[in-house]
Amino acid sequence: MTPRNPFRSSRLVFRAIEPDSDEDKKLYLAFHHDVEGYINSMLGPAVPQGKRHAEKMMGHMTKSMLGVVICLNEEGSEAYRTEQRMKKNSTAASSSKDDDSKGSDGDFNSKKEETFDFGDVTQLVSIGQIHLGSQFNATHRQATIGVDILPEFQRKGYGGEAIRWTLHWAFETGGLNRVGIEAFEWNTGARKLYENLGFKLEGIGRQMFFSHGRFQDDYQFGMLAEEWRQLKEQGKMDF
Ligand SMILES: CC(C)(COP(=O)(O)OP(=O)(O)OC[C@H]1O[C@@H](n2cnc3c(N)ncnc32)[C@H](O)[C@@H]1OP(=O)(O)O)[C@@H](O)C(=O)NCCC(=O)NCCS
Repeated sequence: MTPRNPFRSSRLVFRAIEPDSDEDKKLYLAFHHDVEGYINSMLGPAVPQGKRHAEKMMGHMTKSMLGVVICLNEEGSEAYRTEQRMKKNSTAASSSKDDDSKGSDGDFNSKKEETFDFGDVTQLVSIGQIHLGSQFNATHRQATIGVDILPEFQRKGYGGEAIRWTLHWAFETGGLNRVGIEAFEWNTGARKLYENLGFKLEGIGRQMFFSHGRFQDDYQFGMLAEEWRQLKEQGKMDF
């Protein structure tokens, strides 16, 4: 029996952040360029941010107990690149040479065996980030999830899949007892997702943030290890 690769879910691959790579610098800048997503994730007042802030954010996540880039797996990356090439070709039929160096058909043709080998994950399409930040983890064994999916990949179930994978990592590998996740009042989509995943609303920080012209609440959710185990037994934590 081939072992399950612990850094994969059914459609996604979770790889290390590479702070010195141009690809990851662009990815973290792209989170800032998704203005709506950026405002949903940042505590400070919304101001345009550039490369320096994106790199700071990346540095912060590499120091988290878990900080990973979310990628489409080989099949997903290949399907995405094929779709992009078809779109490009239909709008510019004359430019027949596709010079997307990462998009050559040969890259993803062989389906890899699932092993503990890290594999070459550098060619996969990056779609987001997820991290578990914590303070005093050794004592309290709790941490908080932060997650961003690039706009064109949202509402396809990837955020939920990545969160379920992270919960598994938190409780089975990270040794945590509680995982928290927060959403601002206006981020109704995220709040709905977290509740649907089984997080409990633990509290509301009233008027914690000033945004969109008024003070808004902070919704604080949490899941305990024992609750996660129950959900897992009910088959609700598959990824
Ligand atoms: C919030 C976020 C992580 C969710 O990831 P995702 O991949 O888009 O979500 P999923 O596809 O796994 O889940 C979708 C479900 O969550 C809810 N949901 C998520 N985003 C939603 C939105 N914008 N509007 C309404 N419902 C939404 C819905 O219930 C949806 O189910 P449906 O598509 O069947 O209606 C992602 O949208 C994101 O990164 N947004 C920008 C940054 C951000 O808000 N980060 C979270 C900070 S707390």
